[in-house]
Order: sequence, then C-alpha cells, then structure tokens
Amino acid sequence: MALPVVDTEYLKEIDKARRDLRALIAYKNCAPIMLRLAWHDAGTYDVNTKTGGPNGSIRNEEEYSHGSNNGLKIALDFCGEPFLLALFIYFFIKLNIYLAGVVAVEVTGGPTVDFVPGRKDSKISPKEGRLPDAKRGAPHLRDIFYRMGLSDKDIVALSGGHTLGRAHPERSGFDGPWTREPLKFDNSYFVELLNGESEGLLQLPTDKALLEDPEFRRYVELYAKDEDAFFRDYAASHKKLSELGFSPA
Ligand code: HEM
Repeated sequence: MALPVVDTEYLKEIDKARRDLRALIAYKNCAPIMLRLAWHDAGTYDVNTKTGGPNGSIRNEEEYSHGSNNGLKIALDFCGEPFLLALFIYFFIKLNIYLAGVVAVEVTGGPTVDFVPGRKDSKISPKEGRLPDAKRGAPHLRDIFYRMGLSDKDIVALSGGHTLGRAHPERSGFDGPWTREPLKFDNSYFVELLNGESEGLLQLPTDKALLEDPEFRRYVELYAKDEDAFFRDYAASHKKLSELGFSPA
C-alpha cells in the first residue's frame, strides 16, 4: 500500500504537531518511551500476511495491554500527564506515534529521520507474541526481524535505540540504562556493549547476542568506532521500520 498523498494544509498541521511534540518531549523528558512506543507499534509487522505494523493499532486497549507493552500506556497518555490535562492536550496535539518517534531521536541529538505522514490508525490488533523476547539469542532476533522483512544490519542499527532510556523492573523485569547518558542519542550503546558488563549498566541477552554472532558483531564494531555510520544506518532503518507495509520493505 502506498502512503497517501497529503495536501499542504495537512503538512502545515504536521509541522505544528512536530513543534508541539518537541516541547512536550523536552518538558516531560519522555523521549525514550516515545521511541519505544513507535517501535512496539511497528514491530508487529508480518511481511507474509501483511498484518500488524506501523498502523497505530497499539492505541487499542487490546494491544497496549499485551505484556510486552507494559508501561507504554504512559506514553499514550502524553507521558503521564494527569487525565484532564492529557485530554486537553489531546485536542491540540493528536499524538502521531511515528512523528513522536522521529522527534524523540531528533531532540536527544540523534540523526534526522525522514518522516512521511499519512497513515490511518487501524482498529485491528495482532495477537500477542510478535515482539522480540529479551531473554533469547541471535536466531530469535533473526526470526522476529526477518518476519518484519528487515535485515541483519537493521537489527543492529535499530538495537542502537537502546542508547536512550532504561529498563524498569515493574515493566519488563529488567533494571537500568544501557548507557551513562540515557537522554542522549549517540553511539555509546555500542561502545558500552563492546566494553562488557559494567556496574550500573544493563545488557539484555538480546543485546549480548549482537556480540556473539559474527555478522551482527561486524556492525557493532563499526558503529562503536564510527558514529556517522551508525547515524546514517539508524536513520535508514528507522524509516524502513516506520513504513513497513506502506512501501517496499
Ligand atoms: C526498552 C527489549 C529493540 C527502543 C526496552 C526494554 C526491554 C527491551 C526489555 C525495557 C522496558 C522497560 O522495562 O521499561 C528489546 C528487545 C529488542 C529491542 C528484546 C530486540 C532487538 C528495540 C528497538 C528500539 C528500542 C528496535 C528502537 C529503535 C527502546 C527504548 C527503550 C527500550 C528507547 C527505553 C524505554 C524507556 O526508557 O522507558 N527494550 N528492545 N528497543 N527499548 Fe527496546
């Protein structure tokens, strides 16, 4: 399905939404959870059945209440604003999940990710179980990401999203940030990964799998020493992830 052509009025609205989102994300310090929200909506895509994917279906209660989405309701509620204020904001900024993901990367110092507007939200949610399980290894990562139509390079570049944010025991059972500056988008996720376990920092089994698999490790080493290469590949993979099912994967 091609992304629909949008008119100038709509583009102006997107521009306004982008500015509002920058302000909201900066004020609430919620870039990481906004990025995780966009990824969890898109990451359900199945290239064979053309179901799931970046279609806003994570807004459906049926889907945001999946165990793997624990905590993401906070992002859908404008990063934890009290109900009435969230309702008020809602009428002024209709949360565009993909724009929020792109803005989250941008305002924390990451690359500019091309944003193509025009998605319609879907009321149909996929069944639970399509997102990766953090306790598994490289073959599982390939199963999940190949199902989306993504590549080894995409797996490693996108895992670099863990340069932002942290795990919360009450959400995932894991604890801690991946880097020393979890509100800064840079290549430190890969630098820390190569440094090995470090006091206070987290490495999930799926993060460590990127070191153990030689094909993945090639990219980890490249991104740790060349931030420009990481930013370039991350921007391309993030765009690809946001458009699964809307353009050739
Ligand atoms: C957080 C797993 C890929 C972005 C997390 C958490 C887990 C996890 C367990 C902790 C959640 C919590 O306790 O709050 C995985 C696994 C992946 C993966 C197994 C497979 C490769 C990605 C990708 C992105 C991403 C592709 C984005 C491009 C994030 C962000 C957070 C996060 C930004 C921090 C959220 C916060 O601070 O609230 N991930 N993730 N992850 N993930 Fe991933």
